[in-house]
This record gives sequence, structure tokens and C-alpha cells, in this order.
Amino acid sequence: MIKTFKGISELSQYAASSFIEIAKKSIKERGRFLAALSGGSTPLRLYELLGDQFQNEVDWHHVHFFWGDERCVPVEDPGNSYGQTKKVLFDKIAIPEENIHRIPSQLDPGTAAREYACILKAFSEPPLAWPRFDLVLLGMGDDGHTASLFPHYQVETDLPTLAVTANYQDRPANRVTLTPKVLNSSRNIIFLVAGKAKAATLSRVLGSKHMPEELPAQRIAPVNGSLTWLIDEEAGSLL
Ligand code: 6PG
Repeated sequence: MIKTFKGISELSQYAASSFIEIAKKSIKERGRFLAALSGGSTPLRLYELLGDQFQNEVDWHHVHFFWGDERCVPVEDPGNSYGQTKKVLFDKIAIPEENIHRIPSQLDPGTAAREYACILKAFSEPPLAWPRFDLVLLGMGDDGHTASLFPHYQVETDLPTLAVTANYQDRPANRVTLTPKVLNSSRNIIFLVAGKAKAATLSRVLGSKHMPEELPAQRIAPVNGSLTWLIDEEAGSLL
């Protein structure tokens, strides 16, 4: 499903309401809400809303945060996705420290990927060796990547996590990412895509030609879950 909004603030407001709705349903049905967050700039307004206007809408003690990917830099580095989110969200809400499962970005990518796979296993839903996330938030780069699944990278694997080195804009290159296997086990996946710079790529990703090697965002197809694209008018201008 694709929903188009005038701009990032309307998109973020809707995304925050969806986040809370899925959280309440997950907690009601399973006693917990497992959410994997995205880095980048697009979701920041959403995270601010969750830490401010929506902070009393859910019992954060039942919420567990993970990441779809992380840049392997120290948490205080402005490029660290966990550190960015902590400032606008975790520092504003009553969530137990142990409910925040950051990727150990201070380690080398290979070790961080293995350690994160162990963290995921503790929340696994057998026969899977990882959790079925209740919600995964994803962004899309103007090169068609999502999480840290970059074009022309071999990412179709049975492993839950991968160490990746990729250059994208001025962002840290060494990363850890969830693999399509894990992402596509999720109950709900929401892409947030905004801005004119994404329009051409978005029209290719959502277009008829399936070419996941070039456009890794096309690898995202939940096996038994919902897939929603929240886009603004600029990003959707070529659809
Ligand atoms: C990251 C993200 C990455 C991001 C896209 C879009 O760590 O950078 O996980 O996949 O979502 O690069 O980033 P923007 O939202 O900043 O355009």
C-alpha cells in the first residue's frame, strides 16, 4: 500500500499514529512490541513525535527497540543511528535501558554482526533464529538501498545479520545490517521516503521491472506481513 502526504510533517504524524496502533495491538496480542528502527534523516521527525506528542500513548515497558542497520562508529558520533534516536526519543520516555538493543557499533563490523545475531536469538520465534518484528521502519537511499542492503551486494543469505562496507553520501561506510530473510519475517514493514531526490529511484523501485541487484529496496516483501510505503508528494512525483 502506498500513502502519499503533502510533506514530511504530515507523513511523520501519520507514521507516529501507525507506530502506536501497531504497538498497542502487538502488546495486546503478545505482551510485547518489537520494533526495528531505521537510521537516516527521514524518520527523525517521527522519533521526535514519539518522544513528545505521543510519549504517553503506549506503555514503553513492553516495547523493545532494535535497528535494521547501524553504522560502526561510537554512539556519540553524529553518524550513529542509536545515538541520534536516543537524543530525540529514548531520553524523553520511560523505557528500561534493557529494552533498547543497539547494535554494538564500537566493535569491528564482523564481530558486531555476530553479537547482534546473538541479541536477536534471545527474542527468536522458533523455528526462526530471530524475532518476527512487529514493526520494521525502513528508509530508501537515492541509489535504491534500504537498511544497509546496497546495490550489487550479495545479501541473500540464511544469516540474520551481515557486516557491510559501502559508501553512501558522507555517511560512515562500515555497517551492520539485518538481511532480507529477517526483514521479510516481520509482521509490518513501513518505508518512509520523502524529497525530490528520491523521486526517480522510487518510481523504478515501485515500477514493474524487478531488479533487486540494482534496487535492493525491491528485496523487501514480507512473507506473512504488511508492506506500506509512506511517501511525500515530492518523492511520489514520478509515480
Ligand atoms: C541508514 C539507513 C538508511 C537510510 C537511507 C535513507 O543508516 O542510513 O538505515 O537505509 O534509511 O539511506 O536515508 P535518509 O532518510 O537520510 O534519506
